[in-house]
Amino acid sequence: MPEIIITPTQIHLRNSHISYVIGILEGGIAAHLYFGRRVERFCAASVLRRWGLPADGSLNLQNCGLNHTPQEYPACGLGDMREGALIVRSADGTASADLRFVSAEAEEGKYSLPGLPASYGGEAMTLRLTLRDELTGLEAQLLYAIFDDCDIIARSAILTNHGGGELVLERAASLCLELRDSRWDLVTLSGDWARERDVIRRRLTPGEMSVSSIRGASSLLASPFAALARPETREAAGEVIGAALVYSGSFYAGAEVGSRDATRLMLGLNDRHFAWLLKPGERFAVPEAVLTWSDGGFDGMSAQFHRLCAAHIVRGRFAHAERPILLNNWEATYFDFDENKLLAIAEKAAEVGVELFVLDDGWFGHRDADNSSLGDWTVDARKLPGGLKNLAEKVHTLGLKFGLWFEPEMISPDSELYRAHPEYAMQIRGRAPIESRNQLILDLSRADVRDFVYHAVADILSANPIDYVKWDMNRNFTNVGSLELAPERMRELPHRYMLGLYSVLERLQADFPDVLFESCASGGGRFDLGMLYYMPQTWCSDNTDALSRCRIQWGTSMVFPPFAMGSHVSAVPNHQTGRVTPIQTRANVAMSGCFGFELDLNKLPEEEIEAVRAIIARVKRLRKTLLYGDFHRLLSPFEGRDTAWITVSQDRREAVLMFTRDLSQPDTDEPMLTLRGLDPALTYTVLETGETYGGDELMSSGLCVALPQGDAASVSLTLLGA
Ligand code: DGJ
Repeated sequence: MPEIIITPTQIHLRNSHISYVIGILEGGIAAHLYFGRRVERFCAASVLRRWGLPADGSLNLQNCGLNHTPQEYPACGLGDMREGALIVRSADGTASADLRFVSAEAEEGKYSLPGLPASYGGEAMTLRLTLRDELTGLEAQLLYAIFDDCDIIARSAILTNHGGGELVLERAASLCLELRDSRWDLVTLSGDWARERDVIRRRLTPGEMSVSSIRGASSLLASPFAALARPETREAAGEVIGAALVYSGSFYAGAEVGSRDATRLMLGLNDRHFAWLLKPGERFAVPEAVLTWSDGGFDGMSAQFHRLCAAHIVRGRFAHAERPILLNNWEATYFDFDENKLLAIAEKAAEVGVELFVLDDGWFGHRDADNSSLGDWTVDARKLPGGLKNLAEKVHTLGLKFGLWFEPEMISPDSELYRAHPEYAMQIRGRAPIESRNQLILDLSRADVRDFVYHAVADILSANPIDYVKWDMNRNFTNVGSLELAPERMRELPHRYMLGLYSVLERLQADFPDVLFESCASGGGRFDLGMLYYMPQTWCSDNTDALSRCRIQWGTSMVFPPFAMGSHVSAVPNHQTGRVTPIQTRANVAMSGCFGFELDLNKLPEEEIEAVRAIIARVKRLRKTLLYGDFHRLLSPFEGRDTAWITVSQDRREAVLMFTRDLSQPDTDEPMLTLRGLDPALTYTVLETGETYGGDELMSSGLCVALPQGDAASVSLTLLGA
């Protein structure tokens, strides 16, 4: 069980691996003292001296004492001249807060956040550290939770206006972590459409370095994640601090190196897309951030995030379930389909062992291209004269489950919905709405719109036998305005949109617990812990090219486990890159996630169909390990031509090794792959070659894997330990 030890001058949260220590300094300043490997006791004197503060915890607050004080939740305006976690404006127009200690309480269990996704459950302890600004009456209850089974500190805050005047929150960060030196690299995940989550590593320099989004979604361009790694940190060794938001909207994640080389890491709502009016008595819940420390390199950091996702983020009956192997018709037909065409695809899929058929975009309204009908969630009888039920039942008769695509947050200007309710769209009065992919965004801050969106999906799920929903979202925010919100609340809209979306998703989850939801946003444009809380898997990318996917899935795995990543085999030449890769390579990469297909199998030659049959049978045998095993990255596509990773079952008796090379070269040696995660005492048989090796040998000397000839060659090996 984790512990929280509270004394008058110190609060110490720890589990068996990590400690997080807060000091209560003179005057009630909550100071950050330590985050790292577990310690038995913590004497603050050295850390305070290192920050240039008196070892007894006294501060000269009248003389800008806060400017060099490591604080847990630094506020603005009073002696700290760095970027702070909290900016709060009073009715007189000034911005300041002087947060002082009121109380610290520990309780068993994990705090929850009303209306927001947050890590949950398990053996956890919560700390409620209450600070208060006397002048404005603003109370900040800082929430911390520590888990037993993963080295994660979860953080949030509840901000309450106990004063008599109105306050405006102009910034309310989720996490601030103070570090006394700047010898760190900032590691972020950045990309774009079809190339999500490249691993970007930059040496910190004086000033600010960040990734952020003001797109209303965590976005294709940046993930709500940041890690600080020592310059010498590598995949399997070295110190790293990782932080991620449990949030899916506009965000900021960055580090600032300031005076005396100190570093401040901050994550939270992006204040260029945020302000919140707090009337007397009102409170505001800050989205959660999660923080991990490891000295086991990026591999160690990812292991903690993956464990968090498995045990404390994903909910419901699919959290630990073997996900169905699916076939999605999008790249097979795009908008051009009818029932016969779909059933022909589904029949072939059933014949080779696929388990779920997913009907993607184009089944509703009169949507023959991406320029109409979003909002008109009634079946297009031209394409499906028998309706959805008839199709779903026929698909079920083939022995397949049936899944359906929605894009519920959107509205097409060419739709019955828009003609009846133009006020439903987010918009700025007097300005022509800017379209993107020919569509506008529904204003989910409105109760009537939330109700509409809930019923658009729920009514179809109730009336038809649907087992899976792909929830897509294909554009970002412009015209950020609501016809319903009062002017003084308009800057709340981006966050109110997220709260609205979360409330719809919560309702759907509760009412349809047997439906598996996959989230998608033009591929992986909203791949974050917030979405994962409501939907157990996310479509990684619209780019299904195997070599691109090596990079995309590698980067994604920095935070997210295989069971969260939708990854499919698609046709060649690949529709995004034009590249031709062998079917085995496409499958080897895709099977390290929620496996599926994005093509018409009828178009494959017979020998490839045989290969597909064998691949599906193998995935079914190994799926538990592939989805829920421990995932270790071995060779990085960002550092060379090769990509390798291994997934090891929890009992370490089964492992699947994936090795792919981009371009073949005649005179190069195959590398020795130094494996990780195996049991050194077990003997492993490589099923495909019959060779046997000790686990210790595989993790020390390594395994040399022979690749087939040709570009984009790949091997997937099964290791069985005894
Ligand atoms: C974007 C998604 O990423 C694709 O998989 C597909 O569902 C299209 N939208 C459909 O419009």
